[in-house]
Amino acid sequence: MNILVIGSGGREHALVWKIAQSRQASTIFCAPGNGGISESAECIPIKANDIPGLLQFSKEKKIDLTVVGSEEPLTLGIVDEFTKHGLLIFGPTAQAAEIEGSKVFSKQLMKKYGVPTAEFEIFSDAVHAKEFIRSKNKSFVVKADGLAAGKGVIVAADVQETLDAVDLIMSDKKFGTAGNKIIVEEKMSGEEASVFAVTDGEDYVLLPAAQDHKRIFDGDRGGNTGGMGAYAPAPVVTPEIMAQVERTIIRPVIRGMASEGRLYKGVLYCGLMLTDDGPKVVEFNCRFGDPECQVLMPLIESDVIELFLAVAQGKLKNYSLRLNSMTATCVVLASGGYPDAFEKGKTIFGLEKKLSSGAMIFHAGTQKPDEKFITSGGRVLGVTAFTDTIAGSIQKAYEIAGQVSFEGMHFRKDIGFKALKRLGQV
Ligand code: AMP
Ligand code: GLY
Repeated sequence: MNILVIGSGGREHALVWKIAQSRQASTIFCAPGNGGISESAECIPIKANDIPGLLQFSKEKKIDLTVVGSEEPLTLGIVDEFTKHGLLIFGPTAQAAEIEGSKVFSKQLMKKYGVPTAEFEIFSDAVHAKEFIRSKNKSFVVKADGLAAGKGVIVAADVQETLDAVDLIMSDKKFGTAGNKIIVEEKMSGEEASVFAVTDGEDYVLLPAAQDHKRIFDGDRGGNTGGMGAYAPAPVVTPEIMAQVERTIIRPVIRGMASEGRLYKGVLYCGLMLTDDGPKVVEFNCRFGDPECQVLMPLIESDVIELFLAVAQGKLKNYSLRLNSMTATCVVLASGGYPDAFEKGKTIFGLEKKLSSGAMIFHAGTQKPDEKFITSGGRVLGVTAFTDTIAGSIQKAYEIAGQVSFEGMHFRKDIGFKALKRLGQV
């Protein structure tokens, strides 16, 4: 089969890496891809949001299956367009992708179908939002409705910060039209984890629960990032919690989306807060997480193309997913300055060393203009190790991270430590 993967980050490198292990894949293309991906797929210079360009390419190259990594093309309707032209594609339609594309839609869906999430109010003007906040006289979480590159959420510390957040999003238009509507939401507390259901709209399979590390500094301090590292399976999601997530979140959402006429196909990413009252939804995403995908792909034993095909064709009913019993850890190596303005074009050293089995360096922001890789993004590499134990995978990932360097490189030193703590290993 000719396969096309859409996107250019560590997530897409992990997808390409896993797809390359499939007996069904003959040629793999990636649009636009990156320096590391170009080692195992043919990268084509078409942007992930150029849907007409991707459609034309897919027809020309007779692509048998397209796998969409990132959210933007999904919310723009790439699945609708490809399906209309008889092309198989893995991912939700634009209407289904609204579960990530519009937080207002997602919160209303949860309310309608009784899915546990924080209490909330929706506002389309700043005056009413601020009146509400003043009347409650406490702090809230303020969220822009639309896509804001993971930055549209402000967890305010006090009333004034909550009011300022409303102004920033609605009056200053910090996130553009994404802030035309906002959610003002109760604060939840607890440990966060992500659960991924892969569904054809009716049936689903579950991947191991993962934990991301969103803050830039150790100990979950500093500003939010796209994710500085991840591990899976996350022991905080016990089999009991997983069963509760399935019963109270995954099944009602998949059924709810179908009843709304928005059949949900693809990855349903459930961002959860594990509160004292049970797991509650922080957000849904319509795709794999990044870096979470980098720790999930190594845990899949099955041929991943068979899974994606079963979803795209609506044939998941008789499918059974095989997972291995390993644990994976990914440490993200970031550019100097990230998550704010960051440096680019730095030569990366240490990538030529052959990796032992059970490890992979996924590229997120790299280019390969000649013999050497250079940095081209905020998150540069995802050093991923997979072994029998969480402690082993953490140790191995950090060992390899220590062999790589570029000017300004920084990374968190505590990826996976919450799991070690929970297991009483630190
Ligand atoms: P989101 O982009 O919706 O995942 O939000 C980004 C981050 O903000 C989450 O990972 C949480 O750490 C935090 N957050 C979002 N909503 C809430 C909430 N209701 N209570 C506490 N923290 C939240
Ligand atoms: N790692 C968080 C995300 O992919 O949204």
